[in-house]
Amino acid sequence: AATLRYTFVVQETNHTRLCTNKQLLTVNGQFPGPTITARRGDTVIVDVINRGDHNITIHWHGVKQPRYPWSDGPEFVTQCPIKPGGNFTQMVFLSDEEGTLWWHAHSDWSRATVHGLIYVLPRLGTTYPFRQPDAEVPMIIGEWWNDDIQNVFEEFMSSGADPANSDALTINGQPGDLYNCSAAGTTRIQVESGKTYLLRMVNAAMNNIAFFGIANHSLTVVGTDGAYTKPLTSTYIVISPGQTLDILLEANQPRNHYYIASKLFNAQRGSAFDNTTTTAIVEYTGNYTASSPPIFPVLPAFNDSNASFNFTASLRSLASAEHPIDVPLTIKRTLLYTLSINLLPCAVNGTCERADGNRFAASINNITFDMPSTSVLQAYYRGVNNGVYGPDFPDNPPLKFNYTQRTGLNASWRFPETGTDVQHLKHNETVELVFQGTNLVGGVDHPMHLHGHSFYVVGAGFGNFKRSRDVPNYNLVDPPLMQTIAVPQNGWTAIRFKADNPGVWFMHCHLERHVSWGMGMVFIVRNGKTTNARVLPPPPDMPPC
Ligand code: C2O
Ligand code: CU
Repeated sequence: AATLRYTFVVQETNHTRLCTNKQLLTVNGQFPGPTITARRGDTVIVDVINRGDHNITIHWHGVKQPRYPWSDGPEFVTQCPIKPGGNFTQMVFLSDEEGTLWWHAHSDWSRATVHGLIYVLPRLGTTYPFRQPDAEVPMIIGEWWNDDIQNVFEEFMSSGADPANSDALTINGQPGDLYNCSAAGTTRIQVESGKTYLLRMVNAAMNNIAFFGIANHSLTVVGTDGAYTKPLTSTYIVISPGQTLDILLEANQPRNHYYIASKLFNAQRGSAFDNTTTTAIVEYTGNYTASSPPIFPVLPAFNDSNASFNFTASLRSLASAEHPIDVPLTIKRTLLYTLSINLLPCAVNGTCERADGNRFAASINNITFDMPSTSVLQAYYRGVNNGVYGPDFPDNPPLKFNYTQRTGLNASWRFPETGTDVQHLKHNETVELVFQGTNLVGGVDHPMHLHGHSFYVVGAGFGNFKRSRDVPNYNLVDPPLMQTIAVPQNGWTAIRFKADNPGVWFMHCHLERHVSWGMGMVFIVRNGKTTNARVLPPPPDMPPC
């Protein structure tokens, strides 16, 4: 395995979209940011230099960082932020991940513009478990705000209400030609007839799950979240914020221009196939006249929960001799966590403007996460958690009711407790965790992301989880190995993993508005007995708290 080195200069640079010129926080001046290319098992050293004017941290999303949470990045969970003028050399320890991952800022809402892809290629001398593509193509779904994202974030936090929507979805940083002033910049992917392309896709958007498709072409998913899958061919895909997909595209259609389109999947908030749709173009090389009108893909309706659920539920791991699975079959720790949107009185944590006197909050097991002002990891490592975190998180929800009904609920249940609770796990403990969506204040899909581990998604459904009915139906043969899973609206998802990575690991909803409202918690995986099962010591240049 190799050691590679990158320099990330975080800085404000000028960019223009939608006729608006503005300063954006970027890495190395690029929006989206630079791609890291490595091979399975490599170590990547990134010198992060903060030349911007506010605090930042960087997270390597999907990199497990064995025994080394120090470089993981979530602000106040594993580190204090890098201050303006400061720098931090981060170690990115790849282990068994292979495929597409990404990196992003993990402090306030900076990740809106501070993000990029990580390509993890097979080890030298090995190949993909699918047909070798002729070329690899980045496919980053993101967003553009005309307003400064820091303002968007501050207004959102002080209003107590939903955040402003972005002004455009983007593909590789471009809104596409359905938007004003955007035709010239539209992302164009040039393909040659007969060739195969590997799309390395991430949904880097802040608050929206997305549908995606390419006119007249089917998409063959071969990986997600840094693990390969059985080939899954579909005319559309759905991708959650935080999730990655590896997709094969065969240029097997008559020469033409074909639209790529992505739009919001948002069962509740609503948006049609109009200016919330971002486009890019697949253009065949060679001589031809492009069709007019152009050819658009057909995507599911914005509120088609079944289309979203069915796509995700069709993912399967390879489970082959070369790519075996090790889903835990005996479980030591069984957890049930509810995911809720809640309310808190405006007077808690400041003021807000909502007429009913409450702000939105969000919770796991009806505890809304209170971000400490120093690092949980540092407090744990030094054994001084007093005033930083604790007590232990409840294994099971404190409230028992019909989670997915709106009626008949005690109104007081809408109001969560507040705390920086953690969940301790023993080294190598096998865990089954069922996420249960609730409809306390409103139901919505929650893309849940766990740091430091991958997990097998063994089951999912709409409505309330029912152990006696649902456990026997788990897929323990070829469940997909993932790190971000959209728990369906008013439904449940069951995951299994082995807590084999000692450290402090954040788990949260990857919808930025939900994690900002408190839908997060921390797992502390205890050291094992042997020295190679302990958290490694911190680097000397940890940003000071
Ligand atoms: Cu994409 Cu906590 O991260
Ligand atoms: Cu959520």
